Amino acid sequence: MVKKDAHGSDGNKAEGRKVAKRPEIDQGQLDLAARNEPSPVRYEKAGLDGVGIVWIDVPGKKVNTLSVQLMPAFERAFDEMRADTDCRAVVIASGKEAGFIAGADIDDLGEARSAEEGAALSRQGQQSMQRIADAPVPTVAAIHGDCLGGGLELALACTARVAANDPKTKLALPEVMLGLLPGAGGTQRLPQLVGLANALDMMLTGRNIRPHKAQKMGLVDEVVPRSQLIEAARAAAVRLSQGKPARAGKPPKKKMPDEVQSLLLERNALGRKLVLHEARKKVMKQSKGVYPAPLRILDVADGGGYDGEARAFGELLMSKESAGLRHLFHCITALKKDNGPHTEGVAAVPVNRAGMLGAGLMGAGIATVLADKGVPVRLKDRDHESITKALDYARKVYGKARKRKQYSQAGFDERLARISGGTDMAGFGRADIVIEAVFESLDLKRKMIADVEAAAKVPTIFATNTSSLPIAEIARDAAHPERVIGMHFFSPVEKMPLVEVIVTDQTAPWVTATTVAVARKMGKHVIVVGDCAGFYTTRVLTPYMSEAIFLLLEGYAIEDIDEAAIRIGFPVGPVTLMDEVGIDVGAKVMEVMEKYYGGRMEFPDGTTKPFIEEGRLGRKASKGFYLYENGKSTIERGKKLVDETIYDHLPNGKHTRKPNLGEMGERMVLALVNEAVTCLEEGILFEPMAGDLGAVMGIGFPPFEGGPFRYVDRFGAQNIVTRLTALESRCGRRFKPCAMLVGMASEGALFHEGQGAG
Ligand code: NAI
Repeated sequence: MVKKDAHGSDGNKAEGRKVAKRPEIDQGQLDLAARNEPSPVRYEKAGLDGVGIVWIDVPGKKVNTLSVQLMPAFERAFDEMRADTDCRAVVIASGKEAGFIAGADIDDLGEARSAEEGAALSRQGQQSMQRIADAPVPTVAAIHGDCLGGGLELALACTARVAANDPKTKLALPEVMLGLLPGAGGTQRLPQLVGLANALDMMLTGRNIRPHKAQKMGLVDEVVPRSQLIEAARAAAVRLSQGKPARAGKPPKKKMPDEVQSLLLERNALGRKLVLHEARKKVMKQSKGVYPAPLRILDVADGGGYDGEARAFGELLMSKESAGLRHLFHCITALKKDNGPHTEGVAAVPVNRAGMLGAGLMGAGIATVLADKGVPVRLKDRDHESITKALDYARKVYGKARKRKQYSQAGFDERLARISGGTDMAGFGRADIVIEAVFESLDLKRKMIADVEAAAKVPTIFATNTSSLPIAEIARDAAHPERVIGMHFFSPVEKMPLVEVIVTDQTAPWVTATTVAVARKMGKHVIVVGDCAGFYTTRVLTPYMSEAIFLLLEGYAIEDIDEAAIRIGFPVGPVTLMDEVGIDVGAKVMEVMEKYYGGRMEFPDGTTKPFIEEGRLGRKASKGFYLYENGKSTIERGKKLVDETIYDHLPNGKHTRKPNLGEMGERMVLALVNEAVTCLEEGILFEPMAGDLGAVMGIGFPPFEGGPFRYVDRFGAQNIVTRLTALESRCGRRFKPCAMLVGMASEGALFHEGQGAG
């Protein structure tokens, strides 16, 4: 791994802030494409209006991506444009229905072997964009659908941008999510167009900007209906060629406060410093400084110039954090095509109606997302009050989306109208899928299957959202066990990105394929796993959480245990998580897990029982490990306060131990990693990528580590086994390394090709 240069050189900063030095163009680098292939970029000669069009349409791909091969084709199209004597302006548009350009080709990035090679890739991108910026005629980007990363950087290099007012249109610089920064001039051009504060927000969060917001902030010049996009872009090009502004009519009114703010903050050196200082403070608070990319973005935005951008890009490309995040991206892409075991050639059945048993926290969330995606849902609960609450939940979620202008009042009404409910099984007979989220009780869940089978008039799938019970046991008395499957959601359902689908030996492939399709329709990443108590995610979370309790029993302070996990990169510590999930809920899961794994795993004995007895259930009861007032954390000097009375129940009382955060964190993370590999060894995981994605998306395993399997690859199985064995002798048999890890250590094997130390 290449060591990173902390803040860019002084010479770099001296390049000046407003006008960064422009990259030089190396003609030789641009002419790489094989000339015989159909060109991904085509020039359409100028019409009577003097406007030529450069069409981007990468053959054989659903979306356009910017690759090393594409840029020379772009150059050739531009050469044709230069030779077209009728051309007074040019529109750059996509020939793909899916969108403009979805970003740079991530495979190109994997080719770089050093920071210098990474920087050279960035410079190549900068040069290509610079050629667009230096075009002899005005250029207009006609944007619809995805305009992301390198796609947006290309649009930024144009003279103007026109965007389609379509729900699918989104503009973003999401490089930070891959541990990188925009490396084709974006860090320099974006602040000039939308101001430093807006640019930093986009680059540091990677957030999607919708068309109207984009127009308001000056990112696009005009927003038009999708059907008029090319015509509007042409018209803008004509106006520019006549020396007029891109947009016809008056410029849109900017809100006064924005103007004042930008005047005060961004048009003077002190103001800019303040914006950068505040952004850095926020980054440190949110990421605890464990992600280098946001910090490098701030460095580069602070006068780094094009050269600073390229060097920072190269360094980040070599960072372990970017490698982990890119690995995760690779898992997401690969698993999108995986519908579960024996599903090859098996089609998903259309799901036109869904039933939802239990309208509690999970039921309400699941129904809300289903209806949002166009599936009518019938809810059933024991009482009408629960149904009303679930409808209120949906109303709140849709209301927020409507406020963000994601849809209109009609869209809001339409979604809400898709949810109905009652206390009987009316409407369940014709449901293609019934999702069950009643209490975590085996008997109750079995009864739910019987009820659904009695009501069914069509072959209904029964998908249970249990968090720990084995699916085969829930299906034990089912008349149709082949239609029973696990569908494990995470709370809050509308926000959490993962669904874990659990198949038993009896689950029919069409049921698996259909359930996976439903989860994807709900916008979720899906992992398909085998059946056992806790499946994959709950199973790996359990040793991590119980290790936190062991630490508590040994006398470590609550905030130190959380801090140890956060230092590793977990978004919240395990004790905070217990308060959030509910101490009683956690205890119930732990009980199930102890029943099934007590012979092998060690569990802390009844620690939480006295907490539950005194009504200490976590945030929901405003009484937990931490202090709450009306469900809100009590904060002092930016820190959550611990409820010190909890120590009365612990063996050491208030005499907490001096923390060793490194060792505490290692104990928690290795307990998790060992269990993850055990799941693969036992065939609960069908392959390691699902284990990586599931741990990151489901339970907050540090994303920059790329998941537990990549974690093993990075440190080496041998190293992990040595560390586990040392912990086993110090702490107990729960750290005994599993057989697969030991085998891999002796063979020096990796879970993922091309990974390993770095
Ligand atoms: P909850 O207590 O909020 O909701 C359960 C609902 O089921 C209640 O509204 C209850 O009235 C209803 N119910 C009980 N008996 C019923 C019956 N015979 N017919 C219809 N409805 C009935 O619980 P929550 O948190 O929604 O959990 C539900 C299930 O989801 C449990 O199995 C839980 O383990 C699982 N789960 C929970 C997660 C969480 O974070 N809360 C995450 C993943 C799974």
